Amino acid sequence: MNDRKKILMIVGGGIASYKSLDFIRRLKERNLEVRGILTKAGEHFITPLAVASLTGNNVPTDLFDPENEAHFSHIELARWADLIVVAPATADFMAKAANGLANDLASAIILATTTKVVFAPAMNVRMWENRATQANIERLKTYGYEFIGPTNGSMACGEYGMGRMLESVEMIAEVERRLEPPCERNYRAIVTSGPTREAIDPVRYISNHSSGKQGGEIANALYEKGFEVVFIAGPGSSLPQGGMEIIQVNSADEMLQAATSSLPADVFVSAAAVSDWKIAEYSDHKLKKQNKSQSLDLSFVQNPDILQVISRDVKNRPRLVVGFAAETNHLKVNAAKKLAKKGCDWILGNDIGKESDTMGGDFNEVLFLSRTENDKWPRMSKKEVGARLADRIYQHINRKGT
Ligand code: C5P
Repeated sequence: MNDRKKILMIVGGGIASYKSLDFIRRLKERNLEVRGILTKAGEHFITPLAVASLTGNNVPTDLFDPENEAHFSHIELARWADLIVVAPATADFMAKAANGLANDLASAIILATTTKVVFAPAMNVRMWENRATQANIERLKTYGYEFIGPTNGSMACGEYGMGRMLESVEMIAEVERRLEPPCERNYRAIVTSGPTREAIDPVRYISNHSSGKQGGEIANALYEKGFEVVFIAGPGSSLPQGGMEIIQVNSADEMLQAATSSLPADVFVSAAAVSDWKIAEYSDHKLKKQNKSQSLDLSFVQNPDILQVISRDVKNRPRLVVGFAAETNHLKVNAAKKLAKKGCDWILGNDIGKESDTMGGDFNEVLFLSRTENDKWPRMSKKEVGARLADRIYQHINRKGT
């Protein structure tokens, strides 16, 4: 029986299309079976002949070609693949996929497949940053599509910024990871992420600068390891890839409610930057300026400490509870105090002092603390922190058994 993994490459149209040829060559070197198709725009940049020569298979280009449809229809192609890679994924192609259009061969395959689909976007930085593109990507993520890149760099158009497709060696690593079977043990993790918003009146709130990127990367990494993941997202936090349960909340009270009702779980990761206080008395009408007074007095009361409640108060405490400590000074001392006070098992300390770009940025420098360990991780991307933490969580949970 042929158990070689099968990759379907959809090559979109952009200056990065040429990189797909090298990518196909490297896939073949790894003994993967590859078929390729080109979008109409893709055909302007590379030829079907080049793709056919590298894959060793014919390259259909038209949804309405009777010969191709009779020979190996778009439905058969959609079923054939173990993984579909769209590279380069153009803004236009992702817009089509996000809206369920299926008026050409490539988009019809995306709509017809139940296989994992990975997009490798490539475009000009302005097109990448455009709200329509970003909204399409968010939507595709909630449908379960995955993304490889893009990255920062100089572009063919002479600009510099986000929107460059990854190089084929980097793409290969991402593809191989996705072809590995996930762990078979069915562990459940709850991850909280992002800020909370505490309403003052119907139009105002207090919140913080958390982007939710780190929590999203932890959830992604746990999901890729085979965990069942419940992702509890504060407002505006980046949403991880699809396939996991996503609960969107606003306030700390809502986050606590979502967390406790998602128990039991094996692991709880509290990456959210939960507001410590909420407004003592919410005003159900918009507060007005008072003529006499130049100032406004608001009183606050403490929010529930979600991490502490899950660590100490719930009946079905997860076997592993992980918290975060974002500190502007005395990181080690404060993180150790938090570990003891909150009753969690591990704390990941972040220095968010003046020099750091941790809050909202893409990188993180972590101090890992448990009752017995004290481990300083080097500065790395939030994605790498997510992967490293997920490995550690998996080893811990798996070692202790169920
Ligand atoms: O006390 P502090 O907010 O610095 O603690 C940080 C840790 O506690 C984080 O893991 C955060 O998610 C959690 N936390 C919480 N509920 C709060 C405040 C913080 O779960 N109300």
